[in-house]
Amino acid sequence: MKKYFIATYGCQMNVHESEKLAGILRNADYAECNNESDADIIAINTCCVREKAETKVIGYLGHLKALKQVKKDLIIAVCGCMTQQEGTADSLKKKFPFIDILFGTHNTHLFSEYLDERNEGKGVIAVQKDEGEIHEDTPVHRTSGLNAWVNIMYGCDNYCSFCIVPYVRGRERSRAVRNILNEVKGLIEEGYKEITLLGQNVNSYKCPDTQIDFADLIEKIAKIDGKFRVRFTTSHPKDFSEKVVLTMRDNPKITKYIHLPIQAGSDKILELMNRGYTQKDYLNKIDFIKKHLPSVGLSTDIMVGFPQETEKDFLETLKVAEQVKFNNVFSFIFSIRSGTKAATMDGQIEKETKKDRIARFNKLQFDIGVNLAKECVGQKFEVLAEEFKHFEGKPSVIKSRTDCNKIVTFECDKDLTGQFANVIIKKNKNSNLFGEVFKEE
Ligand code: SAM
Ligand code: SF4
Ligand code: F3S
Repeated sequence: MKKYFIATYGCQMNVHESEKLAGILRNADYAECNNESDADIIAINTCCVREKAETKVIGYLGHLKALKQVKKDLIIAVCGCMTQQEGTADSLKKKFPFIDILFGTHNTHLFSEYLDERNEGKGVIAVQKDEGEIHEDTPVHRTSGLNAWVNIMYGCDNYCSFCIVPYVRGRERSRAVRNILNEVKGLIEEGYKEITLLGQNVNSYKCPDTQIDFADLIEKIAKIDGKFRVRFTTSHPKDFSEKVVLTMRDNPKITKYIHLPIQAGSDKILELMNRGYTQKDYLNKIDFIKKHLPSVGLSTDIMVGFPQETEKDFLETLKVAEQVKFNNVFSFIFSIRSGTKAATMDGQIEKETKKDRIARFNKLQFDIGVNLAKECVGQKFEVLAEEFKHFEGKPSVIKSRTDCNKIVTFECDKDLTGQFANVIIKKNKNSNLFGEVFKEE
């Protein structure tokens, strides 16, 4: 049997898209392998959200050149957000002529046809400009353990001034509610314990047939029989509604965890970013969330060094982080993305200033994380056991996750993977939590 190897860069959206690539390859009678040197085909699913993501892909392609030289029949396919950018597929082909297949984000479903064309001896460059229809029947080979990713929508219409995503993922479009419900029901029957709904802005979900909104959708999913958890990402603060919070409160299967990217604390910067909310709007939403979901876990994305960000603006980001006390923050240095509005804005910030700001932010967030972890000691949580780790000469442990997305490690001599357990937190090491199983009286 021929073998495939997939290298994935970027966000959960791409991780799930790679599961579709794997599904297509398996239907074409390829089997997975863990080592690229054993592969007959290597698919590279790319990301271009920051310069670093692109540099990694270029580095990887450079590394594959040697492999292709010794293995002439090896097929190299490159797809994803980077290839969807105007002109990039051609420039990649010029730089790495050994690439056999190049396609963008709008035609993943046609991968098997491109494979056939390649097998007939043709090279393929196929980047579709328009997003086209949603394709419901692409096969999926899931690789994320107990968790199943489910797209509820594709694309983005927000055009945040720093972001390349709307240019490479096309216009926002939602899947029909009945297709989502059918997929989720099937996954629960197969035994998945966690369903994560995916979209760049899940709160603007609208069923094209029934006009059902995001809150109604998660409620319908939570009513499906079985013991499982529902998560979702990403929520945009401008569209995140009180109705969603109240639906979360009233439906125990919807996890009390919200990823709500603020990006920056300063109103001036938020406006330049075209985010559509102020610091006050954001903090009001956080207050409402904390009032109705007292056990909530919160995370966010922040960016430092956006054009025209002064020290005073940056201090507003620190202030918000101190006030909200996020459980987790994904912090980024602003990266120029050609074609976006921010790329040509006046007042680009020096590299050294950006580095200094991110280091200061990360230091603050580290301390917040440790303090939040200390506060958990003595608290009880229901966790889902995700991984059993056995070490020679040492007690076995289980890596588990709370409803509010905290990771808890506990000793256990039985493999409980896929089961729910009650734990009490005994200690923390930095922001890591260690617990013990207890039986509910
Ligand atoms: N749709 C999500 C939202 O609105 O928050 C974000 C999706 S984006 C793939 C993930 C994160 O990457 C963003 O929240 C932002 O913090 C970061 N990001 C996007 N463009 C960036 C850029 N040009 N430079 C640095 N970080 C960027
Ligand atoms: Fe990018 Fe903004 Fe869309 Fe998120 S909402 S994907 S940050 S344009
Ligand atoms: Fe995701 Fe990167 Fe594309 S973050 S949407 S894979 S540009």
